[in-house]
Amino acid sequence: MTLATTNNNPDEADPLMLGGLTAAGAAREPALSVAPLRVAVLHNSTPPARSANGARPKDALAELDTPRNVQDYVAALRALGHSVVAWEGNADLPQRLAEHPVDICFNTCEGLRGDSREAQVPALLEMLGVPYTASKVLALAVTLDKAMTKRVLACHGLPTPHFQEFRHPNQRLDPALQARLAGGGALFVKPNREGTGIGIHGDAVARGEPALRERVAYLLDTYHQTVLVEEYIEGRDVTCGLVGNVTPEGGAESLHLFPISEVNHAAYAPDVEPYYSYKLKVELADQYAYFCPAPLPEAIAAEVRRLTVETFRACGCLDLARVDFRLDRHRQLQPMILEINALPGLAWNSDLTLCAQADGWTHDELIQSIFLAGVARCGLGLPVPAAALPVAG
Ligand SMILES: Nc1ncnc2c1ncn2[C@@H]1O[C@H](COP(=O)(O)OP(=O)(O)O)[C@@H](O)[C@H]1O
Ligand SMILES: [Mg+2]
Repeated sequence: MTLATTNNNPDEADPLMLGGLTAAGAAREPALSVAPLRVAVLHNSTPPARSANGARPKDALAELDTPRNVQDYVAALRALGHSVVAWEGNADLPQRLAEHPVDICFNTCEGLRGDSREAQVPALLEMLGVPYTASKVLALAVTLDKAMTKRVLACHGLPTPHFQEFRHPNQRLDPALQARLAGGGALFVKPNREGTGIGIHGDAVARGEPALRERVAYLLDTYHQTVLVEEYIEGRDVTCGLVGNVTPEGGAESLHLFPISEVNHAAYAPDVEPYYSYKLKVELADQYAYFCPAPLPEAIAAEVRRLTVETFRACGCLDLARVDFRLDRHRQLQPMILEINALPGLAWNSDLTLCAQADGWTHDELIQSIFLAGVARCGLGLPVPAAALPVAG
């Protein structure tokens, strides 16, 4: 398989054509002619109404967009010459679209509530026949649900930690997970349908059944969704992001993979948990310590990239994604897939933005390339004839 990918060695430029964009050096001229379009940036910035009992854990709103993020997306798309509005992705959307038709939506909506919240705005857009960027309804519903994603990965033979989904704290513990505890191993406990470290705090690792059941009960009660219990993978945290799409034949040559990044856990105080928790992602975000490119043996980096593409393909994702891994220190750094983020954070300081920056891309270029991947996929642009392209020199 040939991948249009960035070598982790920053000295080696990648001269390949990437999904309508060239990624050679700093130049990313779209090989797509796009007439000015009417674009709506869809976001969720306003907290949903509180539940009946009024309770909301302190980390519940971590995935909301900020005004700055939204302004950044709008500015990046206006810089391409499009007419851009920004709307909250809520129940007013059909009305707004009726009053102000658009050609395409740039979707960043995490959704407000419900088991498949990320899929709801795309479902509305599908119903109304409005094109949009990023993954579609089924991929967003599956990938928001970590256990369901892992079933898909297992079906494709892709490596992911052994797991059990809990609906009740007294459910019988899976024998393999029980054996792991009995053998002195640990289990990792997290909400099944969250992101940004929501519900992942200093007590996510359980070393005995009572602690495990206590944590499961707490998460069930607090986050009102199933709880995912996995074998705890001791090792390094890496993530690999991409933009573009597989070809209709399933080829990966139009994907652009960014350099792999790694959390630098050694830079944090010894009492900070050694995993990429809510504390690191949100509370200590301004001190985020990472390596990009991650200093990995090339064979491991190549395997991370291969698994990123396979996961993207298996889950049917579109336009962009970011896949999170732990490199198992007890199995020669075997990459274990934790999840795929079909709508990864796109803020100025989000992981994907930092990976793109390590590749020489600006934040604007990242937003624009995602948009152009969607535009090309939806047939809203015309390919520029090869003769009209600048000759690389
Ligand atoms: N099974 C696991 N073993 C070890 N660490 C884990 C495991 N699952 C999650 N983690 C840690 O928690 C972090 C966040 O987990 P992840 O499933 O990616 O949730 P989120 O959607 O909040 O990013 C991971 O980057 C990793 O550091
Ligand atoms: Mg993650």
